Amino acid sequence: MIQVHEVIKTFDGKEVLRNLNLNVERGTIYGLLGANGAGKTTTFKLISGLLQPTAGTIRFSGEVIQTQNRKFLKEMGVLIETPVFYEHLSARENLEIHLAYMGCDTADIDNSLQVVGLADTGEKPVSKFSLGMKQRLAIARAISHAPELLVLDEPVNGLDPMGIRQMRELFLSLVKDQDMTILISSHILSEIEHIADKVGVLVNGHIAKEVSMSEVRKSCPEGLEDYFFNIMSGGAQG
Ligand SMILES: Nc1ncnc2c1ncn2[C@@H]1O[C@H](COP(=O)(O)OP(=O)(O)O)[C@@H](O)[C@H]1O
Ligand SMILES: [Mg+2]
Repeated sequence: MIQVHEVIKTFDGKEVLRNLNLNVERGTIYGLLGANGAGKTTTFKLISGLLQPTAGTIRFSGEVIQTQNRKFLKEMGVLIETPVFYEHLSARENLEIHLAYMGCDTADIDNSLQVVGLADTGEKPVSKFSLGMKQRLAIARAISHAPELLVLDEPVNGLDPMGIRQMRELFLSLVKDQDMTILISSHILSEIEHIADKVGVLVNGHIAKEVSMSEVRKSCPEGLEDYFFNIMSGGAQG
């Protein structure tokens, strides 16, 4: 579904991504793992069409992604870095505005709010939401227009362990029941190891290692953390 081919991204002459290659298969969950500053957010912004690559191509279902293209916008649900809302409006009103912009008037707002656990926030303005509630609302917004691809940049930031677990189950059910494909990032292995089909480890601007989680579990059931930590810190396995 997503093909990132030899992508380079530079900011002010500094290379943040170099020859990045990454493939996400339809109907799977791809976990992008990397230390802070590794380039996860930049990668997701490029895939979402929010940034333009300096070189290389990114394809979505075979078509090259272009920035500001509404078609891609509708097919993706995106949560990147700190989500921004209309603070004086309710959760529902924020979703209404989003869906109107997406040209999507048949969406089930109640369901989107319910699955993230925000069904009873009523008229409460977002300004009075906790960080975790805002994160839940951001997830609701990303899934509300029933996109084919969900791009989730560190989506469980700010959630408590219970919330992390709920979101994990939600992500799995979106893939299983609604045929979504998910691209999710984290700097913490434990947040994605249980749901990802495949994990890519971003080091020095490129994928140092890409493995299926089933393979990892088979080859080192005990030492998952060490296995990934070695790669993330630029160790020998890269
Ligand atoms: N707009 C920007 N201008 C300049 N440098 C940037 C910009 N965005 C990101 N960077 C730099 O790119 C690197 C990767 O950042 P980022 O993609 O946010 O990493 P991550 O999400 O993995 O923490 C960092 O060194 C960061 O400072
Ligand atoms: Mg980031």
